[in-house]
Order: sequence, then C-alpha cells, then structure tokens
Amino acid sequence: MLVSAKDMLTKAKQGHYAVGQFNINNLEWTKAILMTAQELNSPVILGVSEGAGKYMAGYKTVVGMVNGMLEELNITVPVALHLDHGSYEGALKCIEAGFSSVMFDGSHYPIEENIAKTKELVKLTNEKGLSIEAEVGSIGGEEDGVVGAGECADPQECKQIADLGVTMLAAGIGNIHGKYPENWAGLSFETLDAVQQLTGEMPLVLHGGTGIPEDMIKKAISLGVSKINVNTECQLSFAAATRKYVEEGKDQQGKGFDPRKLLAPGFEAIKETVKEKMELFGSVGKA
Ligand code: 13P
Repeated sequence: MLVSAKDMLTKAKQGHYAVGQFNINNLEWTKAILMTAQELNSPVILGVSEGAGKYMAGYKTVVGMVNGMLEELNITVPVALHLDHGSYEGALKCIEAGFSSVMFDGSHYPIEENIAKTKELVKLTNEKGLSIEAEVGSIGGEEDGVVGAGECADPQECKQIADLGVTMLAAGIGNIHGKYPENWAGLSFETLDAVQQLTGEMPLVLHGGTGIPEDMIKKAISLGVSKINVNTECQLSFAAATRKYVEEGKDQQGKGFDPRKLLAPGFEAIKETVKEKMELFGSVGKA
C-alpha cells in the first residue's frame, strides 16, 4: 500500500540521512526502482512530473500500475507516489487519482499567492492523510518546459511556507535540474543553513540530484536535507546501456529485438544508479 512521505522523512531528518525521490517514466523505470528499494530495504519516493503523468496515459494509469506492482512484486518497504512540481490543478487531480503525496510548486508566483494556494492544498492533503511538498526560490534548469533561473530562496519566505504545515520544503540553493554546467557555483550552504535555522524540524528537499558531487550531497544532508530528487541520472544510465546494446548489434542477433531483451540492459542500469544513490543518501536498511 502506498504511504504518505511524512513518516519516512521525519525518520530521515532525525537519523541524518535522505530518502531518494526517483522520477518514473514507464513500467521499466517503476519496476527497477521498486525492486531496488526492496532489495536494499530502503524507503523510496516515486516522482511523477505532470509531463511524465501525461506520457504514461494519465495519473490513474500510474496509480494502477504502481499499486499493482506493490502487490505483485511483494514490495513491503515504504513507498510514496508523489507528484513532482505540480500545478494547483495537477495536485488536485493526483489527490483524486490516488497519489499518496503531492508537490505544489508555487515558486513562480508572488509569495502571497504561493502562500494562499499552498495553504489550501495543505488543508486538503491533511484531511486525506497525504504529504505535501512546497517550493520557495526556483530550481534552475529546465523541467517539462519550465525554465527556472535557480535563484536562492529567501529564508524568511521559507519559514512562512513551512509554518503553513507542509510536510517538506524545497528551497532553491543554487541547484539545477539536469546536468550542471562547467562553471556552476555549487550549492549555497549558507542559504541552506539559514533555511534550516528558521524551519527547524522541517525535512528539506534537494532537487536536481543528478551530478551533485558526493561531498556536497553529504554536507546538504548534514544541514537538514532529508529528500533528494534524482531524474536525469537514471535517464543517462538507461540511454547509455541501451546505446551499447544496439551499437554491439545485439538487437539484430536472435530475438534481440524483443523489447524485454532490448530494454533489459537499461533496466539493470537504472537499478545500479538507484542503488548507488540510496547508498550515498544513507537510506539503505532504513525501511
Ligand atoms: P535531476 O533531473 O537533475 O536529477 O533533477 C530531478 C528533480 O529535481 C526532479 O524534481
């Protein structure tokens, strides 16, 4: 059964580790992530962007697929199904469809509007026992066509949003979705520290987990990050493994064209990436 992300993140914050949110794109992604979490006895959050939800034929299809897998694959570790960077309407749709967690990304609105909309969704998710993530200060890079400049969050605004009763808070600290540019300035630990000082027990979320050096990940966790989002890195490892299979001509040997064979190396590559991240984040054995 899907669970809210609240308990797993409260434990992570107290235990000084982070739970990974891995974005899903299809059945192979979902199965690879769930099986790895089970093998490593780690809690996990499956992230679904609005674009990926549409691609997978809608939120209800996603809920059906994930719930089916939890049962058929005997997944017993805590799993949350979470809308990633949701709009207000998208969040309502996911709540209706059976997600156990939503992110409302109101970071592009003026702070008053972000507060007003987040407040409404906090009320709704609280009533239903679901978790909710809010965002202050946009995350740089592009995701589903939304381009953020990546400015650092204002710690006072973070406190205002945290005080609304959200489950977890994503604060922009110079992080970027996708690959980091050569001249990237790195994470702003000064901002993160200031945000944590003001928000106390609130689990903080680090987006753009792909390509952040290990020492920065560890430092971020030590400063209160309890959830780290990874998307691009699974896509890169899946693509590289699939490319290798095709370049070696394996799709042209025997029944190598069978999708179950063709997608197998990519599936294994996602498993390996997820394993590396769970080990780095410290969530192994914490289910
Ligand atoms: P990356 O694609 O950079 O790993 O970011 C994922 C993310 O933050 C999803 O919200």
